[in-house]
Amino acid sequence: MTAIALMGAGRMARVHAAAIAAAGARVATIYDPVAQAAEALAETTGARIAASAAEAMADPQVEAIMIATSSDTHIELLDHAVSLGKPVLCEKPLAATFAESRDFVARVGEAAARRVFLGFNRRFDRGHASVREGVHAGRIGRLEQLTITSRDPAPPPLEYIPRSGGLFRDMMIHDFDMARSILSSDIVSVTAHGSSIVDPDIGRLGDIDTASVTMLTRDGTIINILNSRRCAFGFDQRIEAFGEKGMLMSDNPRQSGFRAFTAETPGTDAPILEFFMERYGPSYTAEIRLFLECARDGRDMPVNAIDGLMAAYLAEAAAASLKRGATVHLTGPDQDFAE
Ligand SMILES: NC(=O)c1ccc[n+]([C@@H]2O[C@H](COP(=O)([O-])OP(=O)(O)OC[C@H]3O[C@@H](n4cnc5c(N)ncnc54)[C@H](O)[C@@H]3O)[C@@H](O)[C@H]2O)c1
Repeated sequence: MTAIALMGAGRMARVHAAAIAAAGARVATIYDPVAQAAEALAETTGARIAASAAEAMADPQVEAIMIATSSDTHIELLDHAVSLGKPVLCEKPLAATFAESRDFVARVGEAAARRVFLGFNRRFDRGHASVREGVHAGRIGRLEQLTITSRDPAPPPLEYIPRSGGLFRDMMIHDFDMARSILSSDIVSVTAHGSSIVDPDIGRLGDIDTASVTMLTRDGTIINILNSRRCAFGFDQRIEAFGEKGMLMSDNPRQSGFRAFTAETPGTDAPILEFFMERYGPSYTAEIRLFLECARDGRDMPVNAIDGLMAAYLAEAAAASLKRGATVHLTGPDQDFAE
């Protein structure tokens, strides 16, 4: 049973602790500066509470490290994990800022960056993976349009917004990675629109809650990503890949297969799932299984810090496009977005 050091004991760490157990591994040590959070998770996992992140990672029992802390702490913890030479899985985003992501990859080097598993768990969702595999296998011929819809049920607490890095870097980052994983041609331009119509307070904090990004690949495929911080009917997560020979879709799974056929509810389906813990539950377990398998075999991680950097690059381009009110043409991840 692989022993894991879990950094953080918040919302995501709790999801990962359950997935670690489901994947047949165990949480050996936990660190979170909020003692109450650490204690609660230690109780359910049987892990030892460490006095610091360094101590939790250094425990001789610990064979792998998982970072599920606030985004602005990822890099410091990653630097330490990489220096220990233990396999590490870090939650998305790689860092709170693009500059930090770029500096991290430059500092550790590409080879080490490919050994850092980046938690873009949606790649391991069965429906989304089937779209990707189908496109790659040529089932719809040439891919012409890719539409990714991602809407949260409700905005996060307002205090989350300033630490999040903004919608593109915090939320749409998943969709940028998803697009990259499906496409086989480079993205050459990014055009963003955004507004704060769900909660004007989000706008006052300098962020947006409603966004659309259009990207173009070198071979002419058009990608549209739609994000909203609010969705009245649940967690709306869909992908549509349209090509010359047809369309592949990953739709919202329902809470059950129940459907009602009455005068009031003609052909009404069961509701969709509420949020990421339910919707993507199996993908977190699949992610951990793959992480442990690659760690055991000493292989590069199939989704890694280079992917984290490239998604951060697209997020940065989207933020620059929104600010400038113009399309941003991409030249490579060393691009400078300063005005
Ligand atoms: N992949 C996904 O589906 C998904 C979903 C939600 C959040 N996330 C990501 O997971 C990360 C955590 O988000 P969350 O929703 O759990 O936030 P959260 O605020 O609930 O939890 C973060 C925890 O990290 C702790 N922490 C802060 N600094 C620390 C440090 N130096 N060492 C150890 N612990 C520290 C905090 O005290 C807090 O308990 C974020 O990077 C977020 O972007 C990913």
